[in-house]
Amino acid sequence: MIKIAPSILSADFANMGHAVEFIDNCGADLIHCDVMDGAFVPNITFGPAMIKAIKKYTKKPLDVHLMVEKPERFIDDYVCAGADYITIHYEATIHPQRALEYIRSKGVKAGIVYNPATSVDSLKYLVDSIDMVLIMSVNPGFGGQKFISSSIEKIREVKKNIGEKNILIEVDGGVNLDNAQEIIKAGADVLVAGNSVFSSPDPKKVIEQLKNI
Ligand code: DX5
Ligand code: ZN
Repeated sequence: MIKIAPSILSADFANMGHAVEFIDNCGADLIHCDVMDGAFVPNITFGPAMIKAIKKYTKKPLDVHLMVEKPERFIDDYVCAGADYITIHYEATIHPQRALEYIRSKGVKAGIVYNPATSVDSLKYLVDSIDMVLIMSVNPGFGGQKFISSSIEKIREVKKNIGEKNILIEVDGGVNLDNAQEIIKAGADVLVAGNSVFSSPDPKKVIEQLKNI
C-alpha cells in the first residue's frame, strides 16, 4: 500500500509541534522534513533543533530530506535529533556511497535523492547502501511547484533498476490527487505531499484519497 509523507515545509512554522501532531492524526505514514541551507537550494528552512523538537509530537518516522551542500558534515546532528530516514542529494556530495553507509552505521535508514535533471545511472553503484531512493519531481527549494512530467519515466527506470530489492521509491514535488495515480503506477511507494495536503481545508480527506487511489 502507498505511504503518504506530508511535508512540513507547507505547515505553520509558528505551530510546528501541533502541525506534526495533526498530520499524524490525519493518517500520515512518515513526516517529511525539508532541511534547506540557502546554498544547495535558494531557500533556508530549519536544522536539527527543529527535528528534535517535533520528535516529541509523533511516533511516526521522521523522513529528513537534506537539501544541503556536503551533507556528511551534519549526519551526526540529525541522527542525534531523532531522524529515522536521512536522505542526501547525489549532487551535494563527492562521496555519496560513504555518506550513505555512514548513515546506516548509525542505525538510521539512508536514501539517495536525484534532482530532476540528474541521471539515475549511479543507482547501480548505490543500491546496496540504501533503503530509499527519492526522485525529485520539482527543482528543490520551494513547496507548491508544478510536477515535472519527465519524472514519470525516471520513476519507471528506477523501479526497473531496483527490481525486488527492499528499497522504497519516494517521489517529491507537485504531487496531488490529479497525478498520484500515474506516479504510483510508475512504481512509487511513498508520496511526499506538501501543498496538496496543507492547503486543503480537509487534509485528512486528501491523505485518505491519496492512499486509496
Ligand atoms: C521541495 C521539497 C518538497 C516540497 C514538496 O524542495 O523537497 O518536499 O515541500 O511540496 P509540494 O508537495 O507542495 O510540491
Ligand atoms: Zn522534500
